[in-house]
Amino acid sequence: MIAAEPQNLRWVPKASAIAREAGASLRQFFSQGVVTEYKGDVDLVTIADRTSEKLIRERLGEVFPDHGVYGEEGTRDRMEGEFRWYVDPLDGTTNFAHNFPQFCVSMGLEHRLPGTAPDKDGAIVAAVIYDPMRDELYTAESGRGAWLNGRSIHVSRIPVLAESLVSTGFPSRKRHDSPNVHFYHEFTLRSHGVRRAGSAALDLAFVASGRLEAFWEFNLNPWDTAAGILLVEEAGGRVGDFAGGPFQLNSREVLASNGLIHEELVVLFKDMFAGRNLTPIPTPQEFAQQRAERAAIAR
Ligand code: IPD
Ligand code: CA
Ligand code: CA
Repeated sequence: MIAAEPQNLRWVPKASAIAREAGASLRQFFSQGVVTEYKGDVDLVTIADRTSEKLIRERLGEVFPDHGVYGEEGTRDRMEGEFRWYVDPLDGTTNFAHNFPQFCVSMGLEHRLPGTAPDKDGAIVAAVIYDPMRDELYTAESGRGAWLNGRSIHVSRIPVLAESLVSTGFPSRKRHDSPNVHFYHEFTLRSHGVRRAGSAALDLAFVASGRLEAFWEFNLNPWDTAAGILLVEEAGGRVGDFAGGPFQLNSREVLASNGLIHEELVVLFKDMFAGRNLTPIPTPQEFAQQRAERAAIAR
């Protein structure tokens, strides 16, 4: 039986209503079309990003008046508070600006115990990601579980990279400095494929809901990851840095997976960073043989 979202969640119900309202506004702008402005050479922003952030900021101030808000488009409200929302009012702006329907609203709540040093993370305690084009609402609270439109979700059970669909993203700032294309190439040859769909928060939500086995990216910000990492963990997956260490909101790297393929990914990252000779990519015959061996073990 699929477990339904509990009635007594502490933050998710109010945050979900806000994310839905912001998502409806994005949907409206998307259907009208918007003018694109440039924050950098290819870093885009639109009136939809700003309107969504303004709405979320106002609504959070109304329903959680003592919570802080840290938003991509500049909001820094009540940063001394014990609770802090990381808000990406439109994750996937490049898609949005090109009429490509893959984007979302992302809101992750951090609990910072009094005395937490400014450079230390608190605990992420609630997550809401809303995809307005599919009308899909992903929610989680720490220790309670993760849900998609109110139904419990779980990461996938695929045990090897060779049978996985994974995803990544590329930065829009300093993109010439990013080494990620090398990882993209290697993972493409060692898996069923690498998607680059343009919304890190949705990539993480897709790992949580079992649509993808893993996601990695360099140089993300807390507003991209805070909600998604809690979703993955609450859905039974694993999140960390590329070395297999704990995830940090400001660590500039995230590796999330269904847990089962995590070690394999960490070894691949280690070998690639060390410039070691990698395990040769299996030939089609070897792939078939390995698949048959796994199937025999599973029987
Ligand atoms: C971007 C998206 C994209 C990722 C970029 C992010 P934005 O966020 O999440 O998938 O690859 O690194 O900056 O700018 O659309 O909010
Ligand atoms: Ca983003
Ligand atoms: Ca954004």
